[in-house]
Amino acid sequence: MVPNDLEPYWMPFTANRAFKKRPRLIVGAKDMHYIASDGRKLIDGAAGLWCTNAGHNREPIVAAIQQQAATLDYAPAFQFGHPKAFELASRVAALAPGDLDHVFFCNSGSEAVDTALKIALAFHNVRGNASRVRLIGRERGYHGVGFGGIAVGGIVNNRKQFGALVAGVDHLPMTYDREKQAFTVGEPEWGAHLADALDRIVALHDASTIAAVIVEPVAASTGVLPPPKGYLERLRAICDKHGILLIFDEVITGYGRLGHAFAAERYGVVPDMITFAKGITSGAVPMGGVVVRKGIYDAFMKGPEHVIELFHGYTYSAHPLACAAGLATLDVYRDEGLFDRARKLEKPWAQAAMGLKGLPNVLDIRPVGLTVGIDLASRPDAVGKRGMDALDLGFFEHDVMFRAVGDTLALSPPLIVSESQIGEMFDKLGRIIKAVA
Ligand SMILES: Cc1ncc(COP(=O)(O)O)c(C=O)c1O
Repeated sequence: MVPNDLEPYWMPFTANRAFKKRPRLIVGAKDMHYIASDGRKLIDGAAGLWCTNAGHNREPIVAAIQQQAATLDYAPAFQFGHPKAFELASRVAALAPGDLDHVFFCNSGSEAVDTALKIALAFHNVRGNASRVRLIGRERGYHGVGFGGIAVGGIVNNRKQFGALVAGVDHLPMTYDREKQAFTVGEPEWGAHLADALDRIVALHDASTIAAVIVEPVAASTGVLPPPKGYLERLRAICDKHGILLIFDEVITGYGRLGHAFAAERYGVVPDMITFAKGITSGAVPMGGVVVRKGIYDAFMKGPEHVIELFHGYTYSAHPLACAAGLATLDVYRDEGLFDRARKLEKPWAQAAMGLKGLPNVLDIRPVGLTVGIDLASRPDAVGKRGMDALDLGFFEHDVMFRAVGDTLALSPPLIVSESQIGEMFDKLGRIIKAVA
């Protein structure tokens, strides 16, 4: 089952040479498990890449995709529509908080972010505020890999090779300080004041030049950093004060990861736009999107009716297969109560995760919702090596998969995980952490 030639595939965000020497090949999946190329069954501690929230190869989702492929493979996204696009937009809007009730579809989280940033700029433009062009992100933020996303993103390795990026971007400080918040379960008490940095940024550039602020409610890809208590409320208040749009990037936090349809609901903060991807189809077909407040959509709906209101879109926006998968996935989430399930599992999940405290090199454990970041001390002069060793041991010897972000291990299982499977994962993880000591 191992392909003859691994060389032609340039793998994304992967140490290609190391991988090709010892490939971690996956050939199948079902529910909570992957099947490796040598036939071993591995428990999926990462929902693929934070996306298969309903579990793998779920029958209703598979059937919906198969049926759609045989009925309408593709419909042009511009100037034509197909019913499932409208149906899915209604379903997503119904899950979104407040008056976020219009949905723009694309194919990934990166496209969702670029779409949201473009809508923010265009929104101010159509309202006669063309000077509002600055975009504010946050240190350690991950917003995908488009030029907009890496510009507002705050992960240095994702930015430094790619030139001047997008002009007019500034960053809030990250919300993490290990000394103040190590081994906190959920949202830390310390750090709400860090939102006030937005006031300083406004004072520096003037509100009249700032279009939007984008943050992940929980910064996930960087290693799971829950927001300090009160932080998001404060950001919302400062944005309101200055007429700045607030975008929540919920590509990971959406669709149940934090026990709600969107993190906005968990935190009781209504942003102006929400980006989503991943969990919308439980990873089965690429899809992303942006939900916007009514007032944002309405601002564009003026002028002659034959004229396009927003010059933006993708050939595969609202692709029929993605819409079919999305509708079936939302049915699974609803019928199986998976968001509630995630909320109920949050406590046992956190307890199991905190059981790793005290093991060698464990510097911090940050459980929130059904995810956790576990920081391990780096090996001297080999940052990231301990994390990669853990990943390899998990895959080849302990039959468990998770994410390694440098020396931080991140887990985010499908929301169908059982309590005994949670126990199994952290048991394996404990053995792995000892083995890489
Ligand atoms: C918050 C956030 N935004 C955007 C993205 C990019 O999504 P994609 O890889 O689908 O482009 C990710 C991916 O992990 C993400 O976590």
